[in-house]
Amino acid sequence: MKKQMTDFRVVAREDYLPNFFVLTLQGGEPLDEVRPGQFVEVAVPDCREVMLRRPISVHDVDVEAGTLSLLVQVVGRGTERLSQVAVGSTLNVIWSLGRGFSVAGERVLLVGGGTGVAPLLYLAKCYAARGVRPTLLLGGRTSGLIPTLSRYEPWGRLCVATDDGSLGERGLVTEHSCFAEPYDHICACGPTPMMKAVARSARQRGIDCEVSLENMMACGLGACLCCVAATDEGHKCVCREGPVFDIKHLNQWMNE
Ligand SMILES: Cc1cc2nc3c(=O)[nH]c(=O)nc-3n(C[C@H](O)[C@H](O)[C@H](O)COP(=O)(O)OP(=O)(O)OC[C@H]3O[C@@H](n4cnc5c(N)ncnc54)[C@H](O)[C@@H]3O)c2cc1C
Ligand code: FES
Repeated sequence: MKKQMTDFRVVAREDYLPNFFVLTLQGGEPLDEVRPGQFVEVAVPDCREVMLRRPISVHDVDVEAGTLSLLVQVVGRGTERLSQVAVGSTLNVIWSLGRGFSVAGERVLLVGGGTGVAPLLYLAKCYAARGVRPTLLLGGRTSGLIPTLSRYEPWGRLCVATDDGSLGERGLVTEHSCFAEPYDHICACGPTPMMKAVARSARQRGIDCEVSLENMMACGLGACLCCVAATDEGHKCVCREGPVFDIKHLNQWMNE
């Protein structure tokens, strides 16, 4: 799909404690070609300290309503400023970037940790459109760090793991009872150690697996080379050739 730069109007903003928010954007553009796992580059408005756009995953798309949603965690100045944008204001966005998930498989596990849960909502909806009800395994250190849980419920079997046991099963996502069930496809997005643990387990069990890498990015367009990852076919730009990779090409990354 052609990359576009669009002034989107912020049509809704929802805040989730402790530091998450969802922005719903409308730009008058048809969104039917946006793939789950793709991301956008958002220009941070009225903030001289933040020159570079910020990469944020596509959280949800409503093709009929023409809206695209972003789930964001405040971690620094850019996301702090984005958390203050008012409904009715405009955000300049380059979209939709990168390669998304393949939406393959019949017995499917989607694993997300932290803000890595963001792309899994639209991914689960795309599976549902194919008649596949995935298992959604969402993890975080504590219950407050898994925002917007109720949004996922209609689209799959929801399982939760928290480090402190405040919600769902206590422990890592890879220790959750649903993780060991038989699947033919796994998709993961979240902290690198979590994705490596999921990928290594999938490789050992012979399950197809895709992971979404969130390397630091600048241009988001394949020009600055600041986002490269070591793959079995050499270094690749995560922004252009990812962020989603099949782990068949990531043996080196898994072994690092
Ligand atoms: C493809 C992709 C998709 C992403 N999707 C989402 C999303 O859906 N929701 C979301 O909240 N965030 C997402 N991120 C991370 C988001 O881009 C960063 O949190 C954001 O750029 C930080 O900007 P800032 O100005 O607030 O923080 P900065 O002041 O730039 O940094 C604050 C802290 O955040 C860390 N940080 C910055 N960028 C990243 C990064 N890419 N990965 C890990 N740590 C980082 C910095 O090391 C620093 O410690 C995504 C990143 C990528 C590459
Ligand atoms: S962010 Fe510039 S090449 Fe990927």
